[in-house]
Amino acid sequence: MLAGVTEELAQEARADDSAATRVDELRTWIIRASRLYYEEDAPEITDDEYDRLFRELQELEEQHPDLRSLDSPTQRVGSAPAKALSEVEHRTPMLSLGNAFSIDELRAFDARVRRLLALSAETVSELRYGTELKIDGLAVSLRYERGRFVQGATRGDGSTGEDVTQNLRTITVIPERLTEPLDLEVRGEVYMPKAEFARINAEREEQALPLYANPRNSGAGSLRQIDPGVTAGRKLAAWFYVLIERPGAPGGNAPSEPTQRQSEALVRLTELGFPVEPNHAADMDMEDVIRFAEHWREPRHQLPYETDGVVVKVDRFDFQRRLGMVSRAPRWAIAYKSPPEQAETTVEDIVPYVGRTGTLTPVAHLRPVKVAGSTVARATLHNLDEVRRKDIRIGDQVLLHKAGDVIPEVLRPLIARRTGQEQEYRMPERCPVCDTPIVRDDGAVRHYCPNLACPARVGQEFGHFAGRGGMDIDGAGWMVLSQLLERGMVRKRGDFYRLRLEQLESLDRFARKSAENLMASIERARVRPLARILNSLGIPQVGEQTAIDLADWMART
Ligand code: IVH
Repeated sequence: MLAGVTEELAQEARADDSAATRVDELRTWIIRASRLYYEEDAPEITDDEYDRLFRELQELEEQHPDLRSLDSPTQRVGSAPAKALSEVEHRTPMLSLGNAFSIDELRAFDARVRRLLALSAETVSELRYGTELKIDGLAVSLRYERGRFVQGATRGDGSTGEDVTQNLRTITVIPERLTEPLDLEVRGEVYMPKAEFARINAEREEQALPLYANPRNSGAGSLRQIDPGVTAGRKLAAWFYVLIERPGAPGGNAPSEPTQRQSEALVRLTELGFPVEPNHAADMDMEDVIRFAEHWREPRHQLPYETDGVVVKVDRFDFQRRLGMVSRAPRWAIAYKSPPEQAETTVEDIVPYVGRTGTLTPVAHLRPVKVAGSTVARATLHNLDEVRRKDIRIGDQVLLHKAGDVIPEVLRPLIARRTGQEQEYRMPERCPVCDTPIVRDDGAVRHYCPNLACPARVGQEFGHFAGRGGMDIDGAGWMVLSQLLERGMVRKRGDFYRLRLEQLESLDRFARKSAENLMASIERARVRPLARILNSLGIPQVGEQTAIDLADWMART
């Protein structure tokens, strides 16, 4: 009997051991996967696999409460909400940067640095610069004690910021633990990737909420939330560029050799586990710096995050100390700002588009024009009130930019160029697709087609269902969907799962191989997390985040 119990306990202990190993493995994989996804833009595993690993970890932690840990990736979501963000005094003030708006101003900066350092002929070659891209995000400062993340704050006025520790914990690229048990402070920018900005604004537009102007605003809005659960639902990331070491501070640091240069600090930050923006350079003179800045003017638009210039820094810390600062900005660094990009073009037409919920959105068809790294030919005008407020007419010459470097936006008409031939836009009285009379509810902004069977609405609904945020049926693009709907092969969402290979082979330009691939994607789409299923249904007011909240709630009750 006793032997039986002992054996049982021993078995349990062995199981616990292997659970601990597995939990460790899973945490490492999950952290690595989100790092690759956000930092390198090169995901190694699919979203599905990520979800599976994440769920397995959650389950193990539930079964083995002793293995739970505050720094597990599972704890990075929805920790206890704070009542209000409290204040944090910065131990070292957070500085701002002086700006240079031209090459001449960069050369003047170089001349000033040389004059102030008064280097001799032998030491002048020691003056080298480093360059980093200027990340257009929200500056934060993070404190680590014995290698653990203990507090994070926004910049605020430079002396006092807001405590956003719990919100920062939801950002998966921010290490909870360092690779070494050190006391230190790091600084960098939290930012919202352009794609996430576009996703959130699309969702807000659908829910008739005010849109964010750019990723920096939505990133700041997301970080400064009272409820970290909200921050967690927005995919923020971060780059770090300042390392404040405090070797020998109380807490028993192993005093390592402190870094002597900014270029070394960037390497050290990487070693410690921090994401560092990869496009930096060092060991340059001012002519190299200018080449670097010119080089990045165009390609910066292709990066998945917003940058608004180049930061030039004197590399050596002893030189930095000698140069000091003036009015809260260091004399050893300068930001070479890129001007915001705008372009002029003509509104050739304004065309109403029917969306998934029937909403008619006026879209400006533009004479194609290059702005912020790509050619723009369309820009949403959101709704009739917006068209009227901005007074945009068909035939107008307009000023255009890209909100957050991604979303084309008509800023204003160039009134002085009007010829009198411009035409005011009118909403159609009937749906351009199904001819049903258009409705505008009292006091509402949107016009919509009320016909639930409107082919435009139905098509978009199925597109949403099969799309990325939904069942993610790879290969079910618009060309395929429209045929499936037209031929009556799919009438209800469930019909996807009853499609047969022969049916798919009969589609235009569909060889056996494509049909097989689509069958395989549909097969994979039989299993999706509940939140994705809820989102895929396109229930009014239920977007991606609400779907996640609902699924969480259902899992808890
Ligand atoms: S260094 C003491 N490096 O730009 C110098 N700042 O407009 C502190 N920024 O307050 C700044 N990227 O929030 C530095 N690679 C970079 C940066 C950077 C973005 C921000 C930072 C700064 C602001 C000034």
